[in-house]
Amino acid sequence: MFYIGIFIQLSLSAAMASWSVSYSPRSICAFENSSVDFSCTFDFPRGYTLRVSKWFKPDKDQKQDGSQEGMFVYHTYAGETPERYINRATYANQDKNCSLKLHNVSKKDIGRYFFRFHTDYYRRYTGPGGIDLSIAVLPFRVTVNTQKTNREIHEGDSVTLTCNTENCTPTQEAFIWFKNGRLLPKATEQTLRFSSVSREDFGNYSCGLKNSDTTSTTETLLDVRYRPHNVQIINFPSKEIEEGDSVTLNCKSNANPALTNYTWFKISDTNTSYIGYGSKYSLKTVSQKDAGRYLCVAVNDVGSQNSSVIELKVKEHSRLDFLLIATTVLLLGIAVTLIIFCIMKRRKQIASKKLPAEKISTVTPTEEIYENLRNSLKSEEISTNLTYADLMLPPASSDRPQYNSQEDMTVIYSILSDREETKTIEQI
Ligand SMILES: *[C@@H]1O[C@H](CO)[C@@H](O)[C@H](O)[C@H]1NC(C)=O
Ligand SMILES: *[C@@H]1O[C@H](CO)[C@@H](O)[C@H](O)[C@H]1NC(C)=O
Ligand SMILES: *[C@@H]1O[C@H](CO)[C@@H](O)[C@H](O)[C@H]1NC(C)=O
Ligand SMILES: *[C@@H]1O[C@H](CO)[C@@H](O)[C@H](O)[C@H]1NC(C)=O
Ligand SMILES: *[C@@H]1O[C@H](CO)[C@@H](O)[C@H](O)[C@H]1NC(C)=O
Repeated sequence: MFYIGIFIQLSLSAAMASWSVSYSPRSICAFENSSVDFSCTFDFPRGYTLRVSKWFKPDKDQKQDGSQEGMFVYHTYAGETPERYINRATYANQDKNCSLKLHNVSKKDIGRYFFRFHTDYYRRYTGPGGIDLSIAVLPFRVTVNTQKTNREIHEGDSVTLTCNTENCTPTQEAFIWFKNGRLLPKATEQTLRFSSVSREDFGNYSCGLKNSDTTSTTETLLDVRYRPHNVQIINFPSKEIEEGDSVTLNCKSNANPALTNYTWFKISDTNTSYIGYGSKYSLKTVSQKDAGRYLCVAVNDVGSQNSSVIELKVKEHSRLDFLLIATTVLLLGIAVTLIIFCIMKRRKQIASKKLPAEKISTVTPTEEIYENLRNSLKSEEISTNLTYADLMLPPASSDRPQYNSQEDMTVIYSILSDREETKTIEQI
């Protein structure tokens, strides 16, 4: 009975140590030229003896479930292993340890790897599932993912950037991120998350591994779309504009995509009216009715934004100004006419008096005018019966400066105004 008991126990423990292979991890992503570790343990019931261990990789056109062996990566009998693997594969070859290290991997090594062993009594066992090996082919590139598919990225969207290579990306590595070529010190993971992306995040991104020079060579644009902002009317005259001048108002803003249209409005007390479109709005001949407040609205695919309101001031030519100018012109006209008239009159007098020849020769044309004026004053004196003694102009020939003929008119005006002033004083 005792022996039977032992026998049953042995049988049970043998049965419990079942045929097994366990792989870890089940899939590997490795860089080209690096080494990979296929970590593996196996077991089989007692009473059996291990005869053959082998790692194989089914060909692409073969079944990938382990039923077809394809190519041997490792084989207890080295002759079974092709040249390609003979020096690159290191088998642990320890009790129940089936780990395999594969050196200097390349794209050709991409595939599924299985461990299989043979024992006596013609028992064979293949670890199910195998290990998938992918090769990360550099360079890195940034992929952009959003919750929305095939849609533009707008402000506020949740966006994830992932640092990938062509087939896969080795994990458990420290990553580095760059935005517009500048290192982002806080970003150290394979993914860069924006829970609510903003226009400040717009830019070119690249990534790589921290402890290697394998950074991405191409940049990926995070194309955050946003409605116009910072809309403003620039270079408008802040001072008053003269009537008749021309003024161009420019509207500017920042937007993505670049703007498609600007619309202009004029604000009056009662309403805001549309006046035109385009980045520039020109007022060719400014008049009083152009004075007022203006505003532009920038529009793109995403939305629109108003500029701040500017005020255009137009200088008023008052009626008083016009009257003043008109009066001045009129007075000048009268004065000139008067002088010409006087000269003519004087000439006639000279002709009739026949002045001595020597005196005529010393009198310049300017002095002649003074003479005339004096004469005219004299005649007025008589008619108005007033005393002008103090007003008498200095004798032409003595201390009066000699004037050029060009200055004739100026001199005459000053004399005339002298006369007028004096008259007014006397009347008071
Ligand atoms: C199996 O062998 C490998 C290579 O010799 C070793 O690194 C690993 O620690 C071993 N695993 C176990 C479970 O002993
Ligand atoms: C790694 O393999 C490539 C071919 O895939 C070969 O050119 C290179 O010399 C190998 N490097 C080493 C260290 O064996
Ligand atoms: C992003 O890269 C593209 C192409 O190199 C370049 O034209 C563009 O100006 C870059 N954008 C920024 C914001 O640096
Ligand atoms: C801009 O907007 C105006 C008014 O809505 C429109 O008439 C015009 O065609 C638009 N121009 C462009 C270039 O979209
Ligand atoms: C608003 O102003 C425009 C132009 O200044 C004018 O044509 C329009 O009649 C005005 N509308 C109202 C309701 O005052």
